[in-house]
Amino acid sequence: MSFHAIEQAPGRLNRSELAVPGSQPQMFEKAAKSDVDVIFLDLEDAVAPDEKEQARKNIIKGLNEIDWGNKSMSVRINGLDTHYMYRDVVDVVEQAGERLDLIMIPKVGTAADVYAVDMMVTQIEDAKGLKKRIGFEHIIETALGMQNVSEIAAASRRNESLHFGVADYAASTRARSTIIGGVNPHYAVLTDPDEAGNREVHWGDMWHYALARMVVAARANGLRPIDGPFGDFQDPDGYRAAAYRAAVLGCEGKWAIHPSQVALANEVMSPSEAEITKAKRILEAMAEAEAAGKGAVSLDGRLIDYASIRQAEVLVEKAKQIAA
Ligand code: GLV
Ligand code: MG
Repeated sequence: MSFHAIEQAPGRLNRSELAVPGSQPQMFEKAAKSDVDVIFLDLEDAVAPDEKEQARKNIIKGLNEIDWGNKSMSVRINGLDTHYMYRDVVDVVEQAGERLDLIMIPKVGTAADVYAVDMMVTQIEDAKGLKKRIGFEHIIETALGMQNVSEIAAASRRNESLHFGVADYAASTRARSTIIGGVNPHYAVLTDPDEAGNREVHWGDMWHYALARMVVAARANGLRPIDGPFGDFQDPDGYRAAAYRAAVLGCEGKWAIHPSQVALANEVMSPSEAEITKAKRILEAMAEAEAAGKGAVSLDGRLIDYASIRQAEVLVEKAKQIAA
């Protein structure tokens, strides 16, 4: 290990994160009763300019009056380039800061953006005597944000997670995509012709680099990497595939833009019984190996060593967190 110790963000369960527009308060109760881990009440892109003020009031009332159980509650504020943002922070933290766990900052571009919001939240927390520190979730969804992702990830002790905002990222990078998440058949290669002259199209994942880059920045700073939206809520198989490919890269959770996606996210982002059993067997086998003075042994015909312990511990820890 490096001599540089990585401080881990608070261990919050974040398999699923449900987006609920602040302008639709009739959806709040249903969201509060769902099995989702984190809810973000949205003031940004799901809310029209004329509705921003009312949405803010709805969110403050909803946070204070609804029983959200043990869910983590977040509010997505407007971007720092809008005049809505300062009032989002001031009103929501002043009037509903007790029940607020997280603030989601969209289109974050530089470490200074994080600093600015941190300064405001710190002043309000001090003034109000709030005991619990509000954490930050950052949506990496612009070319600038991706360029500066490492500095953003390290910019505040409030930072908890980085989220891949695929829709805005596509717009910002001018990627050829008009859907939210998912694949593009043109991001593909052709195989060489076989003996009969036939060629196959191999589709690729056009978001691979962005997601992998964000995962590294998040983990190197002790934060949770979370995959963002998948727009086609009538395509559970497509959602599952997108969630699995994010999970195998290291993401801990995925957004749900529709309540039906919550169960899918929870399913994919929870280690399966088979994975947990295997992880426990690895830990047992390594404990026996260590007792016998060995650093590596074979399990089911494959080599395992001290790195296998660390991989297995990640799964067992996650299973404990879910069971708690
Ligand atoms: C989320 O905000 C996105 O733009 O995908
Ligand atoms: Mg966005």
